[in-house]
Amino acid sequence: MKKAILLVVALLFAVGVAFTGDGAHKFVGTKKCKMCHQKAKKGEIFEKWAASAHAKAYHTLGEAAAKEIYTKLGKEGNPQEDPACLKCHVAGYGLDSTLTVKVVKENGVTCESCHGAGGDYWKKSVMVDHDASVAAGMVADPKAGCVKCHNEEAPTFKGFDFEERWKEIKHAKPAG
Ligand code: HEC
Ligand code: HEC
Ligand code: HEC
Ligand code: HEC
Repeated sequence: MKKAILLVVALLFAVGVAFTGDGAHKFVGTKKCKMCHQKAKKGEIFEKWAASAHAKAYHTLGEAAAKEIYTKLGKEGNPQEDPACLKCHVAGYGLDSTLTVKVVKENGVTCESCHGAGGDYWKKSVMVDHDASVAAGMVADPKAGCVKCHNEEAPTFKGFDFEERWKEIKHAKPAG
C-alpha cells in the first residue's frame, strides 16, 4: 500500500516536472532584487548593476553604433525590434512569454539573466537558505553562464577573459 502511494506521488511529480519544464521559473524583475540587495550595508549590488553596461544593453541597440553594425550586416530595420539582437541584450528574451510578463526590456541584461529567474526563490524565506534557493532556480555562481552571450555570435565580439571582465562588474556582500 505504502509503495503504491509512493509510486503515485512519484508519477505526479514526474508529470509536474514534465509539465512545467525544467527551469521554467517566472521572472520577477529587478525591482524585487533591489528591495534586499541595495545600499552600502548590502554591498550596493543593485547600484553597481544599475551603473553597468548590462543595465543599458537595450538602449545600446538604439544607438548609432548598433545601426552601423546593422548596416554592415546588410540588415534593414530597427535593432531594438530584432530578436537576433534582443536575445542577448534583454533578460529572458525568446522564452515562453508567460514567464517574462514582469521583464522590463529597458532594463537590458538583469540580475535574473545571470542568477536565474527569481519567481520561486525571491522570497526571504527561501533566499536565506542557500540550498533551497538553488533548488528553486537560483544560480549562485553564474561564471559559466557569461559565454552564453559573450561569444562569437555577438557582432562586436573581441574575445572574453572572465577574470578581466568580472573585475568590471564585480559585486559581493560586505565581509562579516
Ligand atoms: C526579501 C529579500 C530578498 C529579495 C527580494 C531577494 N533577495 Fe537575494 N538574498 C536575500 C538574503 C537574505 C540572502 C542571504 C544571504 C545574505 O545576503 O546574507 C540572499 C542571497 C542572495 C544570493 C547569494 C546566494 C548564495 O547562497 O550564494 C544571490 C545570488 C541573490 N540573493 C540574488 C537575488 C536576486 C537575483 C534577486 C531578485 C530576483 C534576489 N536575490 C531577491 C534576500 C533577498
Ligand atoms: C544575457 C546575456 C549576457 C550574459 C549572461 C552576460 N553578459 Fe556581459 N554583456 C552583455 C551585453 C549585451 C553587453 C553589452 C551591453 C552594452 O554595451 O550595452 C555586456 C557587457 C558586459 C561588460 C561591459 C562591457 C563594456 O564595454 O563596458 C562586461 C564587463 C561584461 N558584460 C561581463 C560579463 C560577465 C563577467 C558575465 C558573466 C558573469 C556576463 N557579462 C554575462 C550580455 C551578457
Ligand atoms: C550572442 C549574444 C549577442 C547577440 C546575438 C548580439 N549581441 Fe550585441 N553584444 C553582446 C555582448 C556580450 C556585448 C558586449 C561585449 C562585447 O562587445 O563582446 C555586446 C555589445 C554590443 C554593442 C556595444 C558595442 C561596444 O563595443 O560597446 C552594440 C552596439 C551591439 N552589441 C549591437 C548588437 C546588434 C545590432 C545585434 C544584432 C544584430 C547584437 N548586438 C546581437 C552580445 C550579443
Ligand atoms: C553579468 C552577470 C551578473 C549579473 C547581471 C548580476 N550578477 Fe550577481 N553575481 C554574478 C557572479 C559571477 C557572482 C559571483 C559568484 C561567485 O563568486 O561565486 C555574483 C554574486 C552575487 C551575490 C553573492 C555575493 C556574495 O558575496 O556571496 C549576490 C547576492 C548577487 N550576485 C546578487 C545580484 C543582484 C541582486 C543582481 C542585480 C541587481 C546581480 N547579482 C546581477 C553575476 C551577475
